[in-house]
Amino acid sequence: MTTAPELPVSARGCPVLHGESFAAHSRQVYEQLREQGPAGWAEIAPGVHALVVTARRAAVDMLNDPATYAKDSRLWGDLASGRVPADSPVLPLMGWRPSVLYADDEVHARLRSAMDDCIARISPHRLREITRRSALTLVSRIAEQGRADLMADFADTLPLLVFAELLGCPSDMAARMVRSCQILISTSPDAAQGAIDFAGLLFELIRLRHQEPGDDLTSWMLGHDAGLSDEETLHQLYCAVGAGVIPTAAWVGWALHLLLRDDSYAGSLAAGTVTVRRALEKALWVRSPMANFSVHYARRDTSLHGVPVPAGAPVLVSHAAANTDPALPADLGYDNRSHLAWSAGPHRCPAVSQATVIAQTGIETALDQLWDMQLAVTDEEVPLRHGPFHQCPVAMPVTFRPKSAAAIAAAAAPEGGTQ
Ligand code: HEM
Repeated sequence: MTTAPELPVSARGCPVLHGESFAAHSRQVYEQLREQGPAGWAEIAPGVHALVVTARRAAVDMLNDPATYAKDSRLWGDLASGRVPADSPVLPLMGWRPSVLYADDEVHARLRSAMDDCIARISPHRLREITRRSALTLVSRIAEQGRADLMADFADTLPLLVFAELLGCPSDMAARMVRSCQILISTSPDAAQGAIDFAGLLFELIRLRHQEPGDDLTSWMLGHDAGLSDEETLHQLYCAVGAGVIPTAAWVGWALHLLLRDDSYAGSLAAGTVTVRRALEKALWVRSPMANFSVHYARRDTSLHGVPVPAGAPVLVSHAAANTDPALPADLGYDNRSHLAWSAGPHRCPAVSQATVIAQTGIETALDQLWDMQLAVTDEEVPLRHGPFHQCPVAMPVTFRPKSAAAIAAAAAPEGGTQ
């Protein structure tokens, strides 16, 4: 494999998995990493280095070896010894919180059982209906313009509207939640304030649902047999929203891109559900929404498929690179589910079917309402948002036939009195 000559390297001579060059040339950076073997060192933020696993087999082995690899980021040697800048952009996702994402062994089992049981209580029918109404609300805001950015105007906000309702936010709180999360997931300097506002809002919501329990995730979490404290409940809800919003938005964006660009879908958009499902499955293989994540720390010095792994070093799985591993059979296709987009092992995403309902219903609703939709850019390479963790398009400009917003508002009426 040749390495693109313009790619920068870190002060330690490692590939750079962040910033403008990574956002523009991520596939070449994965090739650069593969040259080091099944896992290689990369700079994931200025001055912060991690091992990144690019080989699928090595990734699966690590994800299924919790006795050797832990999720608890308090084991992170460079962080403990002050070598990670306090304002590093990777800390909001890698810094420890008392949530399922950073827990191991029995603690993880307890928090995960609460997460799994509460997520399982979401009725698929109700989820579809919430998503359809939320999608119609967003579509009605752009319908008359005949053009939109499907990321900013649709995909980024859709999961937030859905989560606000699933969490049981009254409508004034829902608007504040959407706003604080939009700031939190932005890369703006206000992101830290957005995180504080969102946590404060969850605290308010927990107090409210103690007084008035409802049919929602917050009340279910508070009432779960695991007996979570208010603080633990807050962190599980924060984790569910934090882990769910950007990947779901990115997934919607990539599947729409495939549907609008890829010739194999051309002319079959009207075929509906099957076509959308095929595009969603393919997007998980070729554009894994979590690009590099599943951060683990070796509990002791070890090696992974021959690569030395020092104790306390962060080891990330490149879900994006593992899914495009040249060692995979060439004729694998996209219909099987052996990709790593949802990760694997004890921390595999607990919300696969719920995220699928949101993404599929959202896309179907948009395509159903906005006719003759076309991408407004011709570039083959879609620019990505900065940062090592997510593979998310910056923007998805489209044009479509303008339509009266009132007609869409009529379509947003609840179905069959289910709400
Ligand atoms: C409804 C939307 C979603 C929710 C509520 C959600 C929630 C979660 C939660 C709570 C975890 C932590 C599980 C644990 O540590 O035991 C997790 C992990 C994960 N999720 Fe999701 N998720 C959503 C959508 C997605 C999407 C669309 C993707 C990408 C296709 C994704 C990929 C992942 C991955 C790769 C992990 C493993 C993270 C790690 O080990 O560090 N998730 N998710």
